[in-house]
Amino acid sequence: MVLMLHAGRKSKRRILALFLAALFVSIASACRAADFVGSQACAQCHPSEFRKQSASHHAHSLQPIEGSLLGAALLKAGHSPDGRLRYEENAGKILIYEESVPQPVVLEWAFGAGAQGSTPVGLLGDQLIEHRFSYYSRAGGLAPTFGHVSRASTPIAELGVLQDKRTVSNCFNCHATGLQRSGSEFRLTGLRPGVQCERCHGPGSTHIQAAERGTSKDEVRREILNPGRFPARAQIEICGGCHRLPMPGMGEEPELEDPVTVRFAPIGLLASRCFRASKTISCLACHDPHSDARPRGDFSYSEACLGCHVTDRKPVKLCRRVQKANCLPCHMQQAQLESYLQFTDHRIRVYPVNSRR
Ligand code: HEC
Ligand code: HEC
Ligand code: HEC
Ligand code: HEC
Ligand code: HEC
Ligand code: HEC
Ligand code: HEC
Repeated sequence: MVLMLHAGRKSKRRILALFLAALFVSIASACRAADFVGSQACAQCHPSEFRKQSASHHAHSLQPIEGSLLGAALLKAGHSPDGRLRYEENAGKILIYEESVPQPVVLEWAFGAGAQGSTPVGLLGDQLIEHRFSYYSRAGGLAPTFGHVSRASTPIAELGVLQDKRTVSNCFNCHATGLQRSGSEFRLTGLRPGVQCERCHGPGSTHIQAAERGTSKDEVRREILNPGRFPARAQIEICGGCHRLPMPGMGEEPELEDPVTVRFAPIGLLASRCFRASKTISCLACHDPHSDARPRGDFSYSEACLGCHVTDRKPVKLCRRVQKANCLPCHMQQAQLESYLQFTDHRIRVYPVNSRR
């Protein structure tokens, strides 16, 4: 608070946004498992959000590997693409064998809903390991996990990368709901796989109790977080808690510093003129937080652009080329990080001539 008194109006807004986002993060991730009631408990009163959200990639971004599409893909392949590893099912578990490693990897989880890809994670002894091959939908099958070395130097490296507890708890924290952790220790009891209602809205038990008591709507609303009430920057920071935020000091052309940032929508959007000059565009201008992204051919994206870029309503310059056309091919291009991994450049801008896709 003292800080805010001395800050200018602009930085006050910035501090408020940071404060709201930090509050959100602490509420949404650091609560007792008992406070989380699960998405199903929201269905009765919010049927349309529930229907959309439970079908989304968010909700399926983590699944037990048994019964997942990834599990089926591994068993169908039988061998890794390089032929060195064997996938087998035994007593309901999916195992990976490498000839010279005495014990198999026992797979537990499928990370990623498979919109782009899905990565197997399991145990080698008591150590967590991220498998060297993943399923990629554009590849139509297994391919090297993005970020892993293409040539393994040891038999264990053939199987994947052993991950320390902190790394794995971070994986769960972004792909699941209600993870309990302190320091690098974490417990999976009470974990709900996938990004579920309460990962963004915070635990819902007191909200539901208030609704069932029949208290006033305002009271009921006060018991749950609605990011829709936050300013744009705080909304971006909430999504950015998982979709990543810029490193301190990152400039206005982050993709020149690190091309991989194209994967991280908030970094691009925050660097765009559209955000920097308006401070009002957030992820919600184009995305329904309860549904998957609509295909880029959908005209609603351009309608979002025209919400600001019309001359008669707001003093923002309009593109003189086209007024009613799909803006994306010229201003939000696609970028490939790998032949099978593609992202949308969220730093809305005019591209240099000859780079149009
Ligand atoms: C027994 C009914 C009931 C259940 C169950 C319920 N809600 Fe609500 N919810 C309400 C009512 C009533 C309101 C206030 C009226 C409104 O905004 O529609 C509300 C409002 C909300 C809002 C908007 C708050 C705002 O500030 O505008 C959110 C977000 C929300 N609920 C999320 C959830 C989530 C997440 C769950 C499951 C954990 C859930 N609700 C379960 C009845 C319920
Ligand atoms: C708890 C972490 C988390 C938060 C918070 C989060 N996301 Fe996500 N988001 C993910 C993960 C993980 C995926 C990948 C889903 C998959 O496995 O395909 C994803 C995927 C998406 C997709 C792509 C869906 C598709 O396949 O079409 C969009 C769009 C998206 N998120 C938007 C948002 C927006 C907007 C917000 C903020 C309101 C947000 N996300 C907050 C973790 C998160
Ligand atoms: C800071 C939050 C965060 C952490 C930590 C995180 N993820 Fe993700 N993950 C996301 C988001 C957001 C997406 C969707 C956007 C994207 O694909 O980059 C995603 C997408 C994925 C995908 C879909 C395919 C792909 O590459 O796009 C897989 C698989 C995945 N993550 C696995 C993992 C594994 C395994 C770990 C731990 C080693 C992990 N993630 C750690 C947030 C996170
Ligand atoms: C990825 C984060 C995320 C997840 C997961 C999520 N929500 Fe939301 N929800 C939001 C955001 C952001 C808003 C604000 C939307 C807006 O104002 O445009 C919102 C708004 C709402 C509202 C208020 C709607 C209104 O018209 O004002 C309700 C009710 C709600 N969510 C219920 C749910 C339920 C139920 C689930 C699970 C089935 C869920 N949400 C999952 C981010 C999320
Ligand atoms: C919340 C309002 C808002 C929305 C929504 C919005 N913009 Fe902008 N945009 C701005 C403002 C403000 C500027 C800066 C104008 C100026 O400098 O005079 C800008 C600048 C631009 C520029 C010039 C960029 C540069 O680097 O010089 C382009 C191109 C652009 N917008 C295209 C789009 C497209 C395409 C969309 C939709 C995908 C969009 N905008 C959505 C507000 C917005
Ligand atoms: C001006 C419109 C606009 C805004 C604002 C916007 N997006 Fe997107 N986003 C898109 C479009 C267009 C796509 C491509 C959809 C498709 O074809 O699958 C997309 C796709 C995505 C995807 C899927 C992977 C990819 O890169 O194609 C994720 C994840 C995502 N957006 C997250 C976010 C987050 C988080 C924010 C807020 C920081 C955000 N978006 C803001 C237009 C927008
Ligand atoms: C065929 C490609 C193309 C399409 C489609 C397109 N633009 Fe542009 N736009 C450009 C180019 C090229 C520029 C650079 C200035 C110029 O040459 O007019 C530009 C410049 C802009 C600017 C910056 C104007 C300035 O003078 O700084 C804005 C804002 C903008 N476009 C918005 C949009 C919006 C909104 C849409 C969709 C309704 C759109 N554009 C569709 C090619 C396109």
